[in-house]
Amino acid sequence: MPTSSAATLKLWDRPPHTAAKHSLLRAYLGAWFPIIAKYNRRVIYYDAFAGPGEYNNGDPRYPGSPMIALETLLDHDYFPKMGRTEFLFLFNEQDSACSDNLARLVAEAKQKHSPWPSNVKVGIENKTFIEVTGMMLDDLDERNARLAPTFAFVDPVGVKATPMSILARLTDYPKGELLVYFAHEAVTRFCGAGNIDQALTDLFGAGEYKGAALLQGAQRSQYVHDLYKRQLHEVCKFPYIQSFAMYDNRGKRLYDLFYCTRELIGLDRMKAAMWKVAPSGDFSFRDRLANQEIIFSQVIDTTPLRKHLLDHFAGQAVTIESVVDHVVAATPYASSHVKRATLAPMQKDGLISSPNQARKGFYSDGTIIVFPPGQP
Ligand SMILES: C[S@@+](CC[C@H](N)C(=O)[O-])C[C@H]1O[C@@H](n2cnc3c(N)ncnc32)[C@H](O)[C@@H]1O
Repeated sequence: MPTSSAATLKLWDRPPHTAAKHSLLRAYLGAWFPIIAKYNRRVIYYDAFAGPGEYNNGDPRYPGSPMIALETLLDHDYFPKMGRTEFLFLFNEQDSACSDNLARLVAEAKQKHSPWPSNVKVGIENKTFIEVTGMMLDDLDERNARLAPTFAFVDPVGVKATPMSILARLTDYPKGELLVYFAHEAVTRFCGAGNIDQALTDLFGAGEYKGAALLQGAQRSQYVHDLYKRQLHEVCKFPYIQSFAMYDNRGKRLYDLFYCTRELIGLDRMKAAMWKVAPSGDFSFRDRLANQEIIFSQVIDTTPLRKHLLDHFAGQAVTIESVVDHVVAATPYASSHVKRATLAPMQKDGLISSPNQARKGFYSDGTIIVFPPGQP
């Protein structure tokens, strides 16, 4: 991260895994803005750990997450059709040299996009995440008001600044979405050390992380991942969560991202974005299904999904809609992976059948899929 004093700012270079995170953000927001603007007259993008807005490398310099969010909206093909919705970009950055730099970049963007659209507002705060979020929510509570639909990007360094209780408060309404960084490597390393226990208890909203200290290697890793996910389900009450583990080119797990939503469509769009972000030789995003590791890539291997569907729907006849909803809700795959890439080859191989299909290999609404009984 950038190092700075009040007067100086030393920007960091953008590593490949950060570039991947930014591609994901860009791809998701490109889908989210038009969907959310269709039914809502006010939406918020909240970048809670905004950084300085740019990285040192690249020519011109690579943009940071707040500038990416702003540009994704302003350059969107549908932006001229979203004029009835007000977009509020709230950027928070604790370090004043970083927030000053960000303010300068926003001012430049305003000049570049002059005349600035009246439905796009940008606010920059220079406090801690806990302070800004608390103030914002206290103010709403006092006015008995509710936060407009918000996509919150919570991208801290380390484990100390993002208590589960604040995440729960921030997202406690139907249209709140969260993309949160989880310092997987640090948590697995320090869970048994005893020196940051309070921070870890706040991070998880529970003391159960201590159980991880009794485990080693992959088991410990899975334990902390699953516990964090369970807490996001239970404390923040998100029904749909997709996590992505970021690995470097030596196979080291760096961090996890958790995307949380209450809408299946959001989950589907995030997964589509995820599969679109092609891995380079420098990083990969991974998840697990049917005891197999899934590496997100543009070449989609649906073997684990086939296995999972045969197991999950064994002996049942279900509609195509139920299959698609299940895939989106409970697997790392997106709706676009179900018909042509998974069910059609399964049918060709004689693994599934349909009694009401107009044409073999095609699955229009209402098509029933029959799955064979499972292995006894
Ligand atoms: C990982 S960087 C953010 C990168 C940015 N989201 C991006 O993708 O371009 C984290 C930033 O959070 C800031 N920060 C650290 N602690 C904070 C806190 N408690 N509240 C708000 N910002 C904080 C740091 O100064 C740093 O700039």
